[in-house]
Amino acid sequence: MTRQTPALGATTRARPTSQFGTIGQQQPERADPCTMVIFGATGDLTKRKLFPALYSLAAEHLISPSFAVLGVGRDASETDQTFRDKMRAALAESEEVKSVDEEIWQWLAQRIFYSGGEATDESAYDAIKARLAEIEAARPEEARNRFFYLAVPPSVFEPIVRHLSSSGLVPRHNDPQERPWARVVVEKPFGHSLETACSLNALVLSLFAEHQVYRIDHFLGKETVQNILVLRFANSIFEPLWNRRWISHVQITAAEAVGVEARGKYYEEAGVVRDMFQNHLMQLLALTAMEPPPSMTADAVRDEKVKVLKSIRWLTPESIPTSAVRAQYSAGLMKGNLVSGYRQEPDVAPDSQTPTYAAARFHIDNWRWKGVPFYMRSGKRMAKRYSEIAVTFQSPPHLMFGGDGAHRELQPNVLVMRVQPNEGVSLNFEVKVPGAAVALTQHLEVAPVDMDFSYSEAFGETAAPAYETLLLDVMIGEMTLFTRSDEVEAAWKIIDPLLKYWEEHAANPMPTYAAGGWGPAESDRLISLDGARWRTP
Ligand code: BG6
Repeated sequence: MTRQTPALGATTRARPTSQFGTIGQQQPERADPCTMVIFGATGDLTKRKLFPALYSLAAEHLISPSFAVLGVGRDASETDQTFRDKMRAALAESEEVKSVDEEIWQWLAQRIFYSGGEATDESAYDAIKARLAEIEAARPEEARNRFFYLAVPPSVFEPIVRHLSSSGLVPRHNDPQERPWARVVVEKPFGHSLETACSLNALVLSLFAEHQVYRIDHFLGKETVQNILVLRFANSIFEPLWNRRWISHVQITAAEAVGVEARGKYYEEAGVVRDMFQNHLMQLLALTAMEPPPSMTADAVRDEKVKVLKSIRWLTPESIPTSAVRAQYSAGLMKGNLVSGYRQEPDVAPDSQTPTYAAARFHIDNWRWKGVPFYMRSGKRMAKRYSEIAVTFQSPPHLMFGGDGAHRELQPNVLVMRVQPNEGVSLNFEVKVPGAAVALTQHLEVAPVDMDFSYSEAFGETAAPAYETLLLDVMIGEMTLFTRSDEVEAAWKIIDPLLKYWEEHAANPMPTYAAGGWGPAESDRLISLDGARWRTP
């Protein structure tokens, strides 16, 4: 499908901020002058995601000339120069940066600084303050905006936010217009359970105002995820059908080809439900199922997401055995190579109960969705990396094609929003297979075909990486793509009963699926209870 008219998304690459809240309005040319302070500067996220995103924003001239980034890490021997060299090497390895332009790199490199210290130790904050005073000396007081990015394990999250507050680095600002601004960006996981998420929220909100806290869910920065609302609410053909009358069920899939890699320790504690369902998949569900917000401001969108999350029926000990399945990958072949099973991965217990795959059926008890199952599944080491939301429509009420029985082959229409890869949207429908014999035989042949929109074909570019969008949003104060405290808690409320039930009822034996496959047989059975089938790409 080719692009007919300039579309909203056409500006996305040039200005990869969230388009919500800004439809029809001009974005500022560049982000506010600011300093980004990264805790966990020598970690993986900084190298793999944050610096590639900063580089791309610099290449697109979206960052203020007064921007600076101060990395904070435990390694005291690191200097500004060695840190710059490491980040330069990381860019060379990044899949997201095709080639590094030396001039742009030099522009960015001059703005990169490092401060060694234990982020959990109060004294580190004096050093940070001193470095910031140096770095920002040429900036007027009101332009000394800062955001503190917590790319650290959750165990150190609490002391860091306390120190940020007590050191005065992030004063509470009740007025969002106050300048210079001070913001805190938090990576997932946000809590380990409903209880811990609530106490984390309580702590954070006792120190800062909600508008200062940017909880990252990087799926929200993905192009197709942002497109869900545009597809639904900027097109009059879909919204009238978007309800129980026309939709039979929805499948949300996030399949990954990778295993747990070097993250066995984290993953053993998390498992797929905390790692993917509580955040990414629940966000996809909320955007797919929410009511139209009255406007596209951050709070209007988030209010609707919270409302729909609160309408999801809670799973109970009675419903869980027929509504959810868990499994672990066993050894299998991936691209011809034998890969090990989950229990054989480094830092994983040989009798681990942590699921690497889960599937669940949810119901939304509201007027629009009553009786429409929403299936979710996610797993590691599946046949390939692909994430999508597939909306399956009801079959037509009466089928007269093909004579006796042949109509049973007809497929219902499916609208697929491809989150990744090959971001886009496709709609499948039935057509008549060409041929003249029909009139004679009365056996008219019908076949499904796809109408397909692909971002790269229509716009000539692939989607902007999520972190690019999200970092720029932090710099301009756009919060739509960040999760609010009540949203996080609403999502935990849905997930908590399932986690608790599984923790209290060990799977014996734990269902398995071969690496490189499409998940366990139990999952196929779960969806077949309603007469449906998982889609395979
Ligand atoms: C992260 C999870 O949040 O999302 C990882 O912790 C997962 O386990 C990743 O691999 C998937 O994100 P993406 O963007 O690679 O699909």
